[in-house]
Amino acid sequence: LSIGPGRTNFKKKPVIIIVIGMAGTGKTTLMHRLVCDMQASNKRGYVVNLDPAVMTLPFGANIDIRDTVRYKDVMKEYGLGPNGGILTSLNLFATKFDEVVSVIERRADQLDYVLVDTPGQIEIFTWSASGAIITEAFASTFPTVVAYVVDTPRSTSPVTFMSNMLYACSILYKTRLPLVLTFNKVDVAKHEFAIEWMEDFEAFQTALESDKSYSATYTRSLSLVLDEFYKNLRSVGVSAVAGTGVSTFYEAVEASAKEYMETYRADL
Ligand code: GTP
Repeated sequence: LSIGPGRTNFKKKPVIIIVIGMAGTGKTTLMHRLVCDMQASNKRGYVVNLDPAVMTLPFGANIDIRDTVRYKDVMKEYGLGPNGGILTSLNLFATKFDEVVSVIERRADQLDYVLVDTPGQIEIFTWSASGAIITEAFASTFPTVVAYVVDTPRSTSPVTFMSNMLYACSILYKTRLPLVLTFNKVDVAKHEFAIEWMEDFEAFQTALESDKSYSATYTRSLSLVLDEFYKNLRSVGVSAVAGTGVSTFYEAVEASAKEYMETYRADL
């Protein structure tokens, strides 16, 4: 990665991997797998937990929102429900995020990756001001990539697949960061169907048209939008439980980060 003027004190920079996915897609299990794999392959990593409501984590987090903000106290203090409590906790943490970035910057030349776990309620991170502040704080300092985790067995119907991809598309446009589509749980359902649908527009059309509940013209135009979206990303199949596909995942992350830095962030 190129080192811009004024940044000559950094020999290298870690790639930030922001893990985003709907509840139950396997983000936490995947994070655990990625951390274990990093240790096994002598890569140096840092882990950031941004989920204030998580009870237990199967891995140690170097920076944990729960050390700074107590989500249950926030709920009581501001008279909020669970989602408001998580959102407000994230807002409070975002005000201190420059300190998090400084901590990582100080260790930058000793780190390969920084893995970031986000709240299970996806929209709390992707559609909040604090999520945008945190994402921008990372992306303005380090090569940053979003890993969008997909529950593969739950995406085998073409209509569900399309809505999931539209969501991923909105995340791409919202974050404006490279996206690695991470099809998890391939031990239960292989992701080949998804690759075929993404590579072959006609195959996806045929699958969609078998669902009579949707207007053919509407779905056709949506899948045209998606066809363009697929050209801007990489996709990999992983099993967080079985450990398959992890090295391919890291390769996709590296390639995305490199391409993004060379194309858009030569200033870093
Ligand atoms: P939230 O904390 O609710 O956001 O969930 P999460 O996205 O962090 O998912 P979590 O890691 O808790 O996994 C949800 C469920 O999926 C658990 O029962 C996991 O054991 C299971 N799971 C995760 N990854 C895999 C996988 O690769 N294969 C299989 N078969 N199950 C998985």
